[in-house]
Amino acid sequence: MIVLANQKEITDFLIGIWAEQARDSIKRRKKFFVALAGGNTPVDIYRGIGNSKLINSWDKTQVFLTDERFVPLSSKESNYRMVRDTILDHIDIPPKNIHPVYTGDSAEKSAREYEQDLIKTFALKEGKFPDFDLILLGVGEDGHIASLLPGSPALKERKHLALGVYHDRLKQYRVTLTLPVINNARRIVFLVTGKRKAGIIKDIILEKALAPASLVKPENKNVLYLLDREASLFLPFRKKAF
Ligand code: 6PG
Repeated sequence: MIVLANQKEITDFLIGIWAEQARDSIKRRKKFFVALAGGNTPVDIYRGIGNSKLINSWDKTQVFLTDERFVPLSSKESNYRMVRDTILDHIDIPPKNIHPVYTGDSAEKSAREYEQDLIKTFALKEGKFPDFDLILLGVGEDGHIASLLPGSPALKERKHLALGVYHDRLKQYRVTLTLPVINNARRIVFLVTGKRKAGIIKDIILEKALAPASLVKPENKNVLYLLDREASLFLPFRKKAF
């Protein structure tokens, strides 16, 4: 866990991680596979990614989303639209490297199509999971990640790569990556800012709460929480790195 003073420092730190991970992945596998969180936290951070001169090789970068709201891609609620507005419209990336969740007839059908896109793009054999080089995640105030909510049966999914789920609280269908995909990533970075998240961060980091975020346990343990001061409010001082 690293606590930085503000979102700008988090952005600069993340750009360094992204550039390093992309360089290593492209050297190793000639490609860089990244899955981006949605929501509000990443908006300004992604603007920094979209404007960064340190991040290039977009021709070798495959961009996926960790989850999507089941709305038209043009909707202000769409995570794809947010990623397009903040990053994709500001860089030179081949359209075939961009993998939206196409929201058509049903969330379940969209999830099956997204799963087929993952299988094709990662050239997966039967029963294998995509191994993203970098996954960025946010955390909801209830500890959810992507669209995997506390108590959701989707948390128990061990076969499918993506699922259609229903967000009771928001009365909204979603499409989400599943835990086996998330936990198969080479590197996972949580982006958590603002005092609204201080309580859940304390619960997860100090109290080891059983929130969906606490189930993010890749074998290589390569999980980093990037927090700002406000989100780290309830953590003991020794944990802060600024
Ligand atoms: C979404 C996200 C979701 C988000 C958390 C935190 O579609 O909303 O993928 O998992 O990361 O809900 O959201 P905020 O960053 O808006 O607080």
